[in-house]
Amino acid sequence: MARLGVNIDHVATLRQARGVDYPDPVEAALAAERAGAGAITFHLREDRRHIQDHDLLRLRQQIHVHLNQELAPIDEMVELALKLRPHEVCLVPERRQEVTTEGGLDARGLNARLAPIIARLKDAGIGVSLFIDPMDRQVEAAAALGADFVEIHTGAYANLADKDLAERYLTGVDSPRVLKAARLKLGEATAAELCKIRDAVRAARAAGLKPNAGHGLNYGNVAPIAAIAGIQWLHIGHAIVARAIAVGMGRAVSEMLELAGGGRSAAPRARVASAAASRRSRMTRA
Ligand code: PXP
Repeated sequence: MARLGVNIDHVATLRQARGVDYPDPVEAALAAERAGAGAITFHLREDRRHIQDHDLLRLRQQIHVHLNQELAPIDEMVELALKLRPHEVCLVPERRQEVTTEGGLDARGLNARLAPIIARLKDAGIGVSLFIDPMDRQVEAAAALGADFVEIHTGAYANLADKDLAERYLTGVDSPRVLKAARLKLGEATAAELCKIRDAVRAARAAGLKPNAGHGLNYGNVAPIAAIAGIQWLHIGHAIVARAIAVGMGRAVSEMLELAGGGRSAAPRARVASAAASRRSRMTRA
């Protein structure tokens, strides 16, 4: 079963919109961790539109679960990742004008640029993932480059599935539980995109890569992706942060865990509990 990584960039987007120090993406990450998220994902963009440099160290110091840093394959970001040492980095393409990461990385076309970056990150003990479109030739290129993971871009599937679902939202069926029960009926184009993702996951596993998936996934469209065997991590941001505004981060994460099927992450919770217990015992002794 895939495990859930929560992307907290959009908490920082809201903070930056006012130029103040709240809401705090690290506080949101801690709430997601307490609710059972297995990973926290963040993207320090070159234009610093959401996550800021000062967030990185706090995330590294305070988060106990798997830390996944998205970054553009440029020297500045690679140096920062080498200092921060997250568990995993996901190399993504970055265009200044885009609202969010649009397409996958061209692992094949960028081979010469990516090879030395991947080698440095791996030498530092950081797991390397490449965010790619669901295409065999990109999976093969990622494997040839020595990546550990690929994150399969689910954006095209998600956009189509959202169109299939629009009528249900418009008629007010907005509870994730109800959406699950109603069973998403995929249109032909959506089913074809889902097939591409399934094939890419299968090809990645056959090539010895660990497949992740993400982008555009939400409470309505996640189930068919979560049902694909062999996906390691589902990285989901916008939908969870948006839902958290209505119901709080804890419930937003719990609802997604229920739909994504991976269940709560137990080991980090034990570490969080033991850290709290040792804090309590220090206080008792003092
Ligand atoms: N995976 C990657 C590589 C991304 O760039 C993003 C967006 O930052 C996500 C997953 C999460 O996408 P969303 O916010 O649409 O869930």
